[in-house]
Amino acid sequence: MNTKGKLVVLGSINADHILNLEHFPAPGETVTGQEYQVAFGGKGANQAVAAGRSGADIAFIACVGDDDTGARVCKQLASDNIDTAPVATIKGAATGVALIFVNGAGENVIGIHAGANGALTPELVAAHQDKIAQASALLMQLESPLESVLAAAKLAHQHQTKVVLNPAPACELSDELLGLVEMITPNETEAEKLTGIKVENDEDAAKAAAALHNKGINTVIITLGSRGVWLSEKGKGQRVPGFKVKAVDTIAAGDTFNGALVTALLEERPMAEAIRFAHAAAAIAVTRKGAQPSVPWRREIDEFLQQQG
Ligand code: RIB
Repeated sequence: MNTKGKLVVLGSINADHILNLEHFPAPGETVTGQEYQVAFGGKGANQAVAAGRSGADIAFIACVGDDDTGARVCKQLASDNIDTAPVATIKGAATGVALIFVNGAGENVIGIHAGANGALTPELVAAHQDKIAQASALLMQLESPLESVLAAAKLAHQHQTKVVLNPAPACELSDELLGLVEMITPNETEAEKLTGIKVENDEDAAKAAAALHNKGINTVIITLGSRGVWLSEKGKGQRVPGFKVKAVDTIAAGDTFNGALVTALLEERPMAEAIRFAHAAAAIAVTRKGAQPSVPWRREIDEFLQQQG
């Protein structure tokens, strides 16, 4: 990463409807949940919030509908230290929605209606060329139209802005897009989708990372849930464990990791320290319910790290 220091996140905004239940319903089964909440989410917004709360200088390119949810989410994002000027309100569209079940083990399953997120076109991306050009890094995920992700990656590349891709949800990607990426952060499922290699242990992770390096990506970080991450750079790989906490809800844990990681890297912290910072942010997030309500502020991350010694 260079020293311009600014971050642009491009991605989705959703209203998450979250139902906590003992077990996931099987087809044809109805299960009564214990708790229901509506909270702001969306992979793009969660990562933007994680970056904003952990101290990044960040602008967010996204779309909301012209509904009450859209207006409220924009207000919330602005209060999370995010420049929301590039968030477009799409006439006649509804803000994106995610329907989420969380089971007794804290695992989740998610269904999505893209809504206004589908209106983030390459033309809209081009309208924010200046923001991308002035940034050091562009962080994206895959809940936005793929052609727009590619358009943004091309613009970033033209302006020496590093492209960081969190390839979630899992999706096959073109070599053209992968070739523009500086750092990629898949989980095991996403790494398998991209490389065809099933990631079950460190050896598999090393093979999957090598396949991604072969596509032209310099830094590969495969997130491994409670086992931490596999970090691979300059041909060298190692597992970096996370912190052990009691997880109540893993929604947005990966998003929090990504937002905090890029923030720390933009502060020019060494990779090991940046991963430790991101692990701490994600560890705090899994002890809390919901997506954005669970994302910690910088002070909380620093305190957590101090307590670890
Ligand atoms: O990564 C978690 C997010 O995925 C949720 O907030 C939900 O909106 C879906 O986009």
